[in-house]
Amino acid sequence: MVYETLLVEQRGAVTLITLNRPQALNALNSQVLAELIAALEAYDADESQGCAVLTGSEKAFAAGADIKEMASKGFADMYGGNFFAGYDRVTATRKPVIAAVSGYALGGGCELAMMCDFILASDTAKFGQPEIKLAVSPGMGGSQRLARAVGKAKAMEMCLTGRMMDADEAERAGLVSRILPAAELVDEAVKTAALIAGMAPLAIKANKEMVNAAYETTLAQGVQFERRLFHALFGTADQKEGMAAFVEKRPGNWTGK
Ligand code: CAA
Repeated sequence: MVYETLLVEQRGAVTLITLNRPQALNALNSQVLAELIAALEAYDADESQGCAVLTGSEKAFAAGADIKEMASKGFADMYGGNFFAGYDRVTATRKPVIAAVSGYALGGGCELAMMCDFILASDTAKFGQPEIKLAVSPGMGGSQRLARAVGKAKAMEMCLTGRMMDADEAERAGLVSRILPAAELVDEAVKTAALIAGMAPLAIKANKEMVNAAYETTLAQGVQFERRLFHALFGTADQKEGMAAFVEKRPGNWTGK
């Protein structure tokens, strides 16, 4: 598929997806959504690919949903068309997606980063939910995911004031897993993705699924779900290979079975 708003490239077993609407600071319009979902679904279905990185430019991961596209819409368009519901498909990706965020991740940009499995931030990253300044609110899950990531106090303050959080604060608050120098962000993210892609494919999916379950279930149900998936991995050839490889002091050779 030819993309107009994305650059998609495979680096070994890593799919690197770059949002590419520089003239609008990667604002997320309907075309970006359609292309992003197509790129993620192609990645998820491609057995040669083990992990993806989603990034933007050095100035902006994404400055939000496209305000110019939304400005004239009314309730019937938004509610009737279930505007933004398509983004749920980002989180339906079964293989991991790392957000590599440099510059602005605002509104839908912050929300998109939070839909990924974890966020690596450059030292220039700025996160915010400034929708209130437009007399609206987050609409792609930001009020929920931000509150879960950084707690109610910071999430509430950010949603009510539109204040941005810099990379240091975001790391302290648990929104991002690591901060990297801007010039190294994408290469480091790809390196991390390659490390993940080198693990056994079924174990990658199981680990992602069980960590995500922590957000959807009670502790007892989550622990039970983890244990059952852990048991299930003992039905895979790769578990036999992984443990034999450890004992024989050699790298594992995975079949994905
Ligand atoms: N939608 C549409 N266009 C946008 C945009 C957006 N979210 N953000 C930036 N742009 C456009 C600007 O209109 C401008 O285009 P023109 O050159 O045609 O005027 C271009 O990108 C460059 O932007 P600026 O000149 O504003 O750049 P700056 O460096 O002065 O400021 C900024 C950068 C602080 C990020 C500023 O662009 C800004 O505040 N952007 C909007 C941020 C925002 O409100 N995001 C939330 C959107 S609503 C949303 O996301 C809803 C939701 O929950 C999903």
